[in-house]
Amino acid sequence: MDNVTIFSHPLIQHKISKLRDKNTGTNEFRSLIEEIAMLMGYEALRDLPLEDVEVETPIETCMTPMIAGKKLAIVPILRAGLGMVNGILALVPSAKVGHIGLYRDEETHEPHEYYCKLPSPIDQRTIVVTDPMLATGGSGVAAVDFIKEHGGRHIKFMSIIAAPEGLKRLHEAHPDIHIYVGHLDRCLNENAYICPGLGDAGDRIFGTK
Ligand code: PRP
Ligand code: URA
Repeated sequence: MDNVTIFSHPLIQHKISKLRDKNTGTNEFRSLIEEIAMLMGYEALRDLPLEDVEVETPIETCMTPMIAGKKLAIVPILRAGLGMVNGILALVPSAKVGHIGLYRDEETHEPHEYYCKLPSPIDQRTIVVTDPMLATGGSGVAAVDFIKEHGGRHIKFMSIIAAPEGLKRLHEAHPDIHIYVGHLDRCLNENAYICPGLGDAGDRIFGTK
C-alpha cells in the first residue's frame, strides 16, 4: 500500500511485546508508549523541510540546515493518543499540540466527538495525529475528516497497533495521508477490540477501570 509504513525495527517490536503483556503496570506502560512514539516519530518526521541558516561555530561562520516553516502540530486523539505526545515532543520540543476528543460508543463502536482545538494556522503545518490503537478506523477517519475540514493538508497518522480492517478503512478514506503502524495485528473481535492487541489503551495509560 502506498503511503503506509509498517515498522519492523526490533526495538519497536520488543517494546510492543512488553505493552501487550497484561502484567505490565501503568507506569511502565506509559513509558513504553512514549518510547515507541519517539522511535516511530524519528522515521515519520524524516521529510520535515529544512532551510540553511547562518551559525557561528567557535571556528568560523557557516550555513547549516535547521527545520523550516511553521512549527509541527501534534494532534492526539483523546484520551489514549495523549500518551504518545511526549515521545514526539522529545524530538521536536517546539511543536504545537492540538487535541481531538473522541470516544467509541460501546454498542455501535462509532466515534463521538466531545472536544476539538487545533493550533492555528493549521493549513501551513505538518500535522502528526497520534492514537495508539487503529481498530475499526472510525476514530481515525473522523479525526482526519475534522482536521481537513479545518484546512489541515499535510497530515501523518501514527498508531502503535492496527487491525487490518482499520488500516484499510483509514487508507481508503484518506489515501493522501501517510499512515505509520508499529505492528499490524490479526483481526478485531466481536467487541471491536484488536486481537491479540493490548486491551484498552486509554485505561492502561491512565490506570482507569
Ligand atoms: C480507543 C482508541 C482509539 C479508538 C480506536 O479510544 O484510543 O481512539 O478506541 O478504535 P476505532 O479505530 O474502532 O475507532 P476510546 O474510544 O476507547 O477512548 P479513550 O481513548 O478515551 O479510552
Ligand atoms: N481501543 C482500544 O483501546 N483497544 C482496542 O483493542 C480497540 C480499541
